[in-house]
Amino acid sequence: MYVGVDYYPEHWPEERWRIDIALMREAGFNIVRLAEFTWYRLEPSEGQYELQWLEQVVDLFEENDIAVVLGTPTAVVPLWAARKYPEIMSTDRDGHRTEYGVRKDTCYNSRVFNLMSDRIVERLTAHLGEHRNVVGWQVDNEFAGPKCYCVHCLSAFQHWLQEKYGSVVALNEAWGLHFWSHNINDWEEVRFPNALWSNNPGQHLDHCRFHSDVNVRYQRRQVETIRKNSPGRFVTHNFMGFAPELDYFDLAEDLDFVSWDNYPNFGDVRGTIRSDGDLDLEPRIRASAAADLMRGAKARSFWIMEQTAGPTGWGEFGRNVWPSELRNIAFQQVAHGCDGMLWFRWRTSTAGREQYWHGLLGHDGEPGRRYQEARTTALELTGACSGIVDSDVLAEVAIVFDYDSRWAFEAQPAYSGCDYVQSVLRYYEGFYRRGINVHFISSRAEFSKYRVVVASHLYVLPDETASRLNEFVKTGGVLLADCRTGVKDETSLCHARTLPGLLADSLGIRIDEYESLEDSFIYDVRATRGHKTYSAGLYSDWIRCEDATSLYRYTTPHVGDFAVLTINRYGDGRAFYLGTIIREDAFYDELAARLLTAARLPVPKVLPNGVQVRTRCTAAHLYTFYVNHLNREVEVDLAHGRDIITDEAVGGTASLGPLGVVIVENERNGEGDDDDE
Ligand code: GLA
Ligand code: ZN
Repeated sequence: MYVGVDYYPEHWPEERWRIDIALMREAGFNIVRLAEFTWYRLEPSEGQYELQWLEQVVDLFEENDIAVVLGTPTAVVPLWAARKYPEIMSTDRDGHRTEYGVRKDTCYNSRVFNLMSDRIVERLTAHLGEHRNVVGWQVDNEFAGPKCYCVHCLSAFQHWLQEKYGSVVALNEAWGLHFWSHNINDWEEVRFPNALWSNNPGQHLDHCRFHSDVNVRYQRRQVETIRKNSPGRFVTHNFMGFAPELDYFDLAEDLDFVSWDNYPNFGDVRGTIRSDGDLDLEPRIRASAAADLMRGAKARSFWIMEQTAGPTGWGEFGRNVWPSELRNIAFQQVAHGCDGMLWFRWRTSTAGREQYWHGLLGHDGEPGRRYQEARTTALELTGACSGIVDSDVLAEVAIVFDYDSRWAFEAQPAYSGCDYVQSVLRYYEGFYRRGINVHFISSRAEFSKYRVVVASHLYVLPDETASRLNEFVKTGGVLLADCRTGVKDETSLCHARTLPGLLADSLGIRIDEYESLEDSFIYDVRATRGHKTYSAGLYSDWIRCEDATSLYRYTTPHVGDFAVLTINRYGDGRAFYLGTIIREDAFYDELAARLLTAARLPVPKVLPNGVQVRTRCTAAHLYTFYVNHLNREVEVDLAHGRDIITDEAVGGTASLGPLGVVIVENERNGEGDDDDE
């Protein structure tokens, strides 16, 4: 396994390089990422290149058996470039050109920027692309935005639409521009969307897709140059978990694998510590789900290109990593399919905006507690755990993650409190608490690989996707759909159908009316069999069962006729629909069990609070990870096998130490051999 750090040698005197590298080696590190943000150091003035210093650093690492991932430096242009070619800087919605001085502020539709970027990437990859010690590349840094509103971007947007729709008549129709007499006569009349509250939903959705495509295309330019000049090396990019700007399934397409930047303790201290003084589990569950999305974007193992090393923040920083937490955060990601990990950053910078984004070493450069813990972790990962590399994460349960729906909700959240990621996470958590592996998939994916598909808030639902979901159920799959699913077509016009539209076939319900409740109004909910009760809020579909059976219904009188949770047998499968947001976690634990049961899958018990269980496997072995996210001992029921870290036999009731990790290895007994990829 590759384990190491992000290193910025250009920030430190040359005499220090050897000391740093010796410490890294001592820690068992075998990889570093270099050169991100070094454009000025590589090209201090136009056309004058200085690559020797970087080559010297790569050599130095080679002498010490530490491999190198090179970052292309394009996330920040040098000031000379911005002064000479002002058009390369992006423009905000009000038409102001971005002031130089931060990063990620150039225009990807500027011809000049693209030429400059091509040139530096060409130079760098031509010079170091075949260096023995360069094993891979990271393109740019954290693609996302911001969206640029310059004239070049406007004409690129017009072109993009022209290619997509062919005629202005088709565009008028797709965006519904007859409304308020907004029709256009000519492509040149297409503008950018206005402020969110007043703009056209179709225009907003296409603009989001356009922005995503622009980034994907820009990345592709770099990938092509890298592949030409640096054959045999991997190409990746550092993604950002649940960041909303780009369709990560698309961005992953040109890469060999996805990497991502994981900062679970970012933000204010209150947000990561709970009232009893222990760690809050929410950021951990989110990091777990984000890892599954990152894995899902390419349907294969991923890397962490930036892993939390200490307190983070730009102006103010948050809490420190607690003893054993750095290791805990690392192993959680390995449990999800992480095969390479670099801590961000090696040493805390004494200069610039990130003086407070702490590295393994402080400003003083002394190898302290965080360094020691990273060392322990690295030695375990590259030693005892090396057999895990390339193992699979198999899953029978998939959760659809749909950027179109997410973007459509941005323009119209529909109900107050609607949060797309949160909606998906509610179901995710039900599976998480039972230790079930889950895959995140795009709405374009093959559903039939799974036994259970959760399609929450699938707001934008093209007919073709609806038909595939129906077919999935008909042929034996278990589907869960919920609020606002199927409201819109692919251009963000509302389907002119009774909800849930085409999905009525498999769901067996009809929804004539619905409403938003905000968090001030709570409905009471009761099981149709048994006595379980819950409370519902934020949103309510008034569901009538046609073929479906109601499993929960409202007991609040004026909605007493309507179902809350339904199940329908359709073909060989079952389709569930939940028409509200239940406030209690226990409901989602129960729902996960119902879905698993309907799919004839085993239903593991809900795990002790704070404990996470996941599995990875190779053809020969099953690895079960037990990760304790609380800073106290917890009792768990371990599988019988070999603890790969201690190399001891374990099994049965055992205690997991504070923030502790156990990985149990078993021989695989042949079942479930079907590959997930
Ligand atoms: C991102 C970037 C890093 C660094 C950190 C901290 O993850 O990729 O370069 O700037 O944020 O701000
Ligand atoms: Zn632009």
